[in-house]
Amino acid sequence: MLVCSCNYITDKEIRDVITEMLDQDCWQLIVPAKVYHAMEKRGRCCGCFPNVVDIIVTTTEAYHAARASEEDKVVDFIDRLKKFQQEQKQELIERRNRLARTA
Ligand code: FES
Repeated sequence: MLVCSCNYITDKEIRDVITEMLDQDCWQLIVPAKVYHAMEKRGRCCGCFPNVVDIIVTTTEAYHAARASEEDKVVDFIDRLKKFQQEQKQELIERRNRLARTA
């Protein structure tokens, strides 16, 4: 289906570019200008941008839904990050206590 009549861009072309961008960084913020830039196109009248936003949302949702098994890794990463932060705080407290004792 033709989405952008100014640049003759179809929804499939837009979805393909979005998927490529998500493959590079699945947490990046994707906006219509970024998609068009990747396609070496520019918005002219920009009347298609609301539809491009809809395609970005549905494609991103489908992308993450297809990789739902990786959710465990995200949670695991966050847990490890919290543990690391806690260790760093504890180490800082111990270092301050040592300095206070020696002073
Ligand atoms: S319809 Fe896409 S820029 Fe005009």
